[in-house]
Amino acid sequence: MRLAILCRDAGLYSVRRMAEAARVRGHAAQILDPYLFLLGIRGRRLSLSYAGEPFAGADLFLPRLGAGISEHSLALIRHLDAAGFRVINSPSAIEVARDKLRTLQLLAGHGLPVPRTAFAPDPARLDEALRAVGGPPAVLKPPRGTQGKGVILAADREQARAAAEYMWGLEREVLVQEYVPKGRKGELRLLVAGGEVIGAVRRRAARGEFRSNLHQGGSVARARPSREARALALRAAALCGLEIAGVDFVHSPRGFLVLEVNAAPGFEGVERAGGGDVASRVIAYLEGRLASG
Ligand SMILES: Nc1ncnc2c1ncn2[C@@H]1O[C@H](COP(=O)(O)OP(=O)(O)O)[C@@H](O)[C@H]1O
Ligand SMILES: [Mg+2]
Repeated sequence: MRLAILCRDAGLYSVRRMAEAARVRGHAAQILDPYLFLLGIRGRRLSLSYAGEPFAGADLFLPRLGAGISEHSLALIRHLDAAGFRVINSPSAIEVARDKLRTLQLLAGHGLPVPRTAFAPDPARLDEALRAVGGPPAVLKPPRGTQGKGVILAADREQARAAAEYMWGLEREVLVQEYVPKGRKGELRLLVAGGEVIGAVRRRAARGEFRSNLHQGGSVARARPSREARALALRAAALCGLEIAGVDFVHSPRGFLVLEVNAAPGFEGVERAGGGDVASRVIAYLEGRLASG
């Protein structure tokens, strides 16, 4: 197959690994920068050019754009989809996953366990939001953040107010969430491809930090998830419409809670922790999808 990976940074570990795995399996793999595409509509025809040249297309497009995906990149994958190309994950699933509130609405609506969350329109409702999640302490976060950026643990009302006013002042929206203490098990990330769990890691935050993201100094270790965690991850991915997903959990006294679902999960941690060749398993899944039409 001709595989096109859409990504802003061709040097990212997971992207490099998937291109490599595709080539090893005999495919042509390209890494394309979404910002070099021009989308055209003329009459009934949707066209595309790449870096100023007419674009020949590919058999399968794999967007790897993360929650920070721009409006142009979203438009690009919708354009590809509308022009009849195969895009995995689908544009609609990517739109759900990039929005933490939308994800939690969907999961909670189908009975999956998620942290208590409140979304207020402005700082005047902050106290109400804190009460609704049983805080403080409470976690404040941007609904479309990534890599732990802007995720704040507010110990008391004053800290929550300062953080919320700052975020709202930047015209950012703020989700207020119950703080789930992590205990010794830390957090779990399960990688899903096509209804199967293909990797799992336990994530731990660095000392003095509550966020477990690698970008915040967190570490990972290989994990053997329970049957319950696997079933939850598969259900969460399916509800979001994601064929490829990373599902993040925290352990709480109430059991597992789904924190977020990622449409372009990195798997450097899983592979480095000895969790196997995730890249090849993703490519194998895509081969099967292409073959099944
Ligand atoms: N409600 C919460 N309770 C405890 N820790 C949290 C909570 N929300 C987020 N965190 C911590 O912060 C990290 C980043 O938050 P997350 O919602 O996953 O945003 P991002 O998309 O930036 O990774 C999580 O992996 C977790 O370690
Ligand atoms: Mg996260």
